[in-house]
Amino acid sequence: MIYRSQLVGFGGYLPKRILTNDDLTLMVDTSDEWIRERTGICERHIVSEGETCVSMAVEAARQAIDYAGMSAQDIDAIVVATCTPDKIFPSTAVEIQKALGIKKAFGFDVSSACAGFVFGLSVADNFIRCGQAKNVLLIGSEVYSRILDWKDRRTCVLFGDGAGAVVLSAVNTETERGILGCYLHTDGQYADLLYVEGTPAKFQDQCFLRMKGQEVFRHAITKLSEVIEEALNDHNLIYRDIDWLVPHQANLRIISRMGAKIKLPPERVIVTVDRHANTSAASIPLALNEAVRDNRMKKGDLIVIEAIGGGLSWGSALVRL
Ligand code: COA
Repeated sequence: MIYRSQLVGFGGYLPKRILTNDDLTLMVDTSDEWIRERTGICERHIVSEGETCVSMAVEAARQAIDYAGMSAQDIDAIVVATCTPDKIFPSTAVEIQKALGIKKAFGFDVSSACAGFVFGLSVADNFIRCGQAKNVLLIGSEVYSRILDWKDRRTCVLFGDGAGAVVLSAVNTETERGILGCYLHTDGQYADLLYVEGTPAKFQDQCFLRMKGQEVFRHAITKLSEVIEEALNDHNLIYRDIDWLVPHQANLRIISRMGAKIKLPPERVIVTVDRHANTSAASIPLALNEAVRDNRMKKGDLIVIEAIGGGLSWGSALVRL
């Protein structure tokens, strides 16, 4: 039997504490107007005491398992996309396994920065396609507030904390629904455009994110356009076939350009960057969770997912909900 994976559960968690653009003006030389105009961001959530990569992931995972109508014991693989884990090891995945009392699963983390969810989706999808897992819990959980230089206005205004989760389940390939394909790329020659300084030994004090924003912006526009085309061409689909774009939420200008490229009206492009900022690997599952739970997305809708991040790493996925 050949399987395909279907998205059957969705969940999300955002820290209680909200940091507005006006709050940031008290920390660095910036303004609400600059941040809104250049990025579309109005506010972001930041962890408080007791909120961690694991605790946010556990809450998002619980919701996703519940939505799927499953119990923890139905899960047989856990994949966590994060580059801001609480510990070097054990993996975030096994901490989540312990917290949720998942017995039979194996789990591990995937590190592909802001493209982490798409890379994790491909990993989870392949476990299902080859028959090694039936129900996979995939979580993106990030605490970027830990790796931001709060004195650097070029980066600290762009990111937020949060977690999103999905459950993928094996279905027969004869069904029309499910993940149709994932398309992944990396190019290490651009590694110096977006990175976190130092090694985990320096994690606590001076391990800061650095970015050449304009260059990343330029690559985002071309590479995301190409990888969307790649996905559509692989399935002989045209722009009109797409119902929704669920982009990585880094910058509203990039998101709008991608929506315009595939000729989708703005209301068919899921946007959370205004309220969440860039939550890296968590941004796409958080956006999916929102759009499924408020009934915008319906069963059978065709969704294009895309993301780019440090590496550079980028990818897309085509999903029939
Ligand atoms: N507040 C006020 N001014 C700021 C600022 C801030 N938070 N950050 C930078 N500036 C200033 C710069 O210092 C510069 O001033 P100067 O002209 O006097 O030197 C000016 O604003 C323009 O900076 P620039 O970097 O050219 O702005 P931009 O229009 O390229 O926007 C980004 C900057 C970061 C918003 C934009 O490049 C971007 O979104 N890039 C992609 C980032 C991304 O998506 N990263 C994640 C990928 S996962």
